[in-house]
Amino acid sequence: MKVFIVCGTNHKGSTYHFGRIIAEKLTTAENISEVFLPRDFGEFCCGCTNCFVKSEENCPHYAKLKPITELIDGSDVIILTSPVYVYHATGQMKAFLDHYGWRWMSHRPDERMFGKQAVVVATAAGAGVKSTMKDMADSCFYWGIPQIYRLGKPIKAVNWEGVSPKLKDNINSKADSMAKKILKRQGKVPIPIKTRAFFKLMSLMQRNGWNKVDAEYWKEKGWIGSKRPWK
Ligand SMILES: Cc1cc2nc3c(=O)[nH]c(=O)nc-3n(C[C@H](O)[C@H](O)[C@H](O)COP(=O)(O)O)c2cc1C
Repeated sequence: MKVFIVCGTNHKGSTYHFGRIIAEKLTTAENISEVFLPRDFGEFCCGCTNCFVKSEENCPHYAKLKPITELIDGSDVIILTSPVYVYHATGQMKAFLDHYGWRWMSHRPDERMFGKQAVVVATAAGAGVKSTMKDMADSCFYWGIPQIYRLGKPIKAVNWEGVSPKLKDNINSKADSMAKKILKRQGKVPIPIKTRAFFKLMSLMQRNGWNKVDAEYWKEKGWIGSKRPWK
């Protein structure tokens, strides 16, 4: 199993450790890839909308993003991690996710997404874990990832060393049961009703899609009919 961690900061803090704990329960170290933001990708979307109306290849940051896109596509499990910064994901995580708007189900989802699973991870000193995990889970859902898990906690600390052993144990056992579920579903990831229903809605919309590039993509895939990107 290939696991890909996108770390929403440059440093290996508490949030990184949460993500790494779950990754190591899923696979061996050589099958885990990591990128750090903004070190490995720090661009802001410039709003040209080329990705939507022309092609993702017309994004001015396409070449920089390509190796990361390849890691996403080649992974079975994607782990997005971010500490809570003023109740939300870090700016660099948001800027990263903005670059994949064209991959949302409302535009041109990639069929490989429907066989993947994702974990969103957040830590806060006190509050904001739920909204931060949602920031990342929204993209995972709209990319088409059918199973998304949440691992988040207020840790009452500002670094990993300050996290109490009791809380570390608690995270470890949560990650254990999450990993069991992920491993069990690997290779036959169930598609929930919410994904099926949203895909159907998009399929109806794309029959007379306002955006030619998206409409043609859906037509080519056969998804405006009964064909689906899952079995
Ligand atoms: C700019 C900034 C904003 C923060 N905002 C919040 C917040 O809204 N709520 C909160 O409980 N903690 C907040 N924190 C604390 C961090 O979320 C918390 O310490 C987190 O566990 C750090 O994770 P890390 O070790 O992975 O960097 C903030 C920290 C920074 C630097």
